[in-house]
Amino acid sequence: MIALDFSTADETKQFLSQFSNDRLYVKLGMELYYQNGPEIVKWVKSLGHDIFLDLKLHDIPNTVYRAMKGLAALDIDMINVHAAGGSEMMKAAKEGIIDGTQAGSTVPKLIAVTQLTSTTELAMQTEQLIPVSLMDSVINYAKTTHQSGLDGVVCSAWEASAIKSATSRDFLCVTPGIRPAGASLGDQQRVATPDKAREMGSSYIVVGRPITQADNPVEAYHTINRQWNGA
Ligand code: C5P
Repeated sequence: MIALDFSTADETKQFLSQFSNDRLYVKLGMELYYQNGPEIVKWVKSLGHDIFLDLKLHDIPNTVYRAMKGLAALDIDMINVHAAGGSEMMKAAKEGIIDGTQAGSTVPKLIAVTQLTSTTELAMQTEQLIPVSLMDSVINYAKTTHQSGLDGVVCSAWEASAIKSATSRDFLCVTPGIRPAGASLGDQQRVATPDKAREMGSSYIVVGRPITQADNPVEAYHTINRQWNGA
C-alpha cells in the first residue's frame, strides 16, 4: 500500500497520474480526508485503485456505527478504528460497515490501531495507567480486536508473528515502518525491509516516503513490490 501523505488534492492527483498503468492499493489518511472530504476518495476510486481509509475512528458506539455506515458507502476496501474505543465500539463499527455496504459489493476490511507507535511504554504506563509492557498491551488490544470480529490490526512487522499466534493465522497484520535496504529512515525507528516483513508475517506493507519522495516513484514502487513478492 502506498501512503498518500499529501495535503492537497492537486499533489495527490499529480502523484497518481504517474501510475496510469498500475492498479494500486493506496492509504488515504486524515490530513487529506479532512481537507478534501469524500470527493478525494471517490476520485481515487474512479481511477480503479483500492483504498485503505486510515481515519482511526474512536467515539461512542452509536456515533461510530453511523459514521462507518456512511463511509462504507464510499466503496472503500479497508478502514480502521482505535482498539482503545473498546469491544462494543468495534462491534458497532463492524455493523455499520456491513449495513453501509451496497448489496453485491464486498464488505470493506475493518482493522484496529492498538497502541500508536508514537506512544512510549513510559507514557502508556504513566498517562494511560496501563501497568503492563507495551507489547502485552498491543497483544491484549489485538485479542480484543479479534474477539470483536474485526479483520486485523495495524502493527509493526516485528509484532506480526506474536499477534498471529495470539489471534489467528489469517488475522491481518498491516505494517508501516518499511524501508528498502539502505533507504533513509526518516522518523521511523524499528523498520523492516519488504522481504523481512513478509517473512515475519505482514499481510500488507504500507510504504510512504520511499515511494512518494523518490526521484522515480513508479520505479521505486515496482522495486519494493518485487522485494515484497520475494523476487
Ligand atoms: O513515509 P513512511 O513510509 O514512514 O509512511 C508510513 C505511513 O504509515 C505514514 O502514513 C504513517 O503515518 C503511517 N503509520 C506509521 N506507523 C504506524 C501507523 C501508521 O508509520 N504505527
